[in-house]
Amino acid sequence: MIPQPVIDSRTAQEFQEKFHHAVAFITGGASGLGFAQAELLGALGCRVVLADVQQDALDVAGKRLRAENVEVVTVLLDVRDRSAYAAAGQRVYEHFGQFPRLLFNTAGVNGFGPIQNASYNDFDWIMGVNLHGVINGIQTFLPMMLEQNDPAWIVTTGSMAGFMGSASAGIYAATKAAVFSLMESYDKTLPDQGVGVSIVCPASIRSNIADTLDTRPSEFAKKSSFNNDPEFIKLQRQLYSSGMAPLQLAAHVVEGIVQNRLYIVPFTETRDGLKQYFDNIIEAFDSYGSPDRDAQRRAADFLEYQQAVATIQQS
Ligand code: NAI
Repeated sequence: MIPQPVIDSRTAQEFQEKFHHAVAFITGGASGLGFAQAELLGALGCRVVLADVQQDALDVAGKRLRAENVEVVTVLLDVRDRSAYAAAGQRVYEHFGQFPRLLFNTAGVNGFGPIQNASYNDFDWIMGVNLHGVINGIQTFLPMMLEQNDPAWIVTTGSMAGFMGSASAGIYAATKAAVFSLMESYDKTLPDQGVGVSIVCPASIRSNIADTLDTRPSEFAKKSSFNNDPEFIKLQRQLYSSGMAPLQLAAHVVEGIVQNRLYIVPFTETRDGLKQYFDNIIEAFDSYGSPDRDAQRRAADFLEYQQAVATIQQS
């Protein structure tokens, strides 16, 4: 049964035509958006792999999905660990006789503290999960997606923070900007080879992300600038409790796949802020007045270079 809020039956049908019985690998699948994606995909007939660092949460999530008759495998995986990722892929193949055709890079961690006080530990942990975790997922499964003939899709969860920079969550914002750009790059070539690409940009989700520091490995807890004061965490919990329901966001993700959207940006309240961001950049361009003498030549040279590169890559 498709959980509430439902996606419309046409969307469900179109998704199922391409992906019924496909294996979906979902990182961060034990909680929040990842779990909601698992619920919805399971209801749509996918076989689901939940990959997460929290064993207890995995056990609960797996049990809940099995109760909904979803065929599910749970994998304890730290997405930062390349060889563990490869081993998880192998385990999935052994279980299902197939590699995933759907990859959801949903795992993500955050930490709040003044960017000027950030330690290498802070950078390494967040970059490791939010950026390298995404790279590891794609490096693990993309070759298999390209080898087989059925449709495949990669969905990465970014954040609106990726556009804004942030004095208190600067590392997080940088990772989300990076995955945004990465997915745009993949989108330039993969769809022609049967692999669709989407990036989800949430603003606020009703999830457990306020407790994200609980998943920080102990070796990164030393010398951290992140605020773990209980009062602060309480404030965070309050903020996220009014976010979008994870299942509603998961429904937007499935619609985005069906509608072949690169950008899944259903948080319409952030549209004006984003427009202002781009307007500021355009205004900075305009401050130079009319183009300098060589601008046209540089643009023509760049175009010529791009065409030559495309020809080399195609041959
Ligand atoms: P959540 O905290 O409920 O779920 C994240 C899951 O990722 C947890 O189950 C956690 O154990 C898992 N995880 C953490 N480190 C991991 C690792 N190294 N390897 C594997 N799994 C790991 O949070 P939520 O909100 O569902 O987060 C989903 C995505 O949405 C994240 O990428 C987050 O950055 C993004 N996001 C969330 C927003 C929010 O308001 N909650 C806003 C914008 C983006």
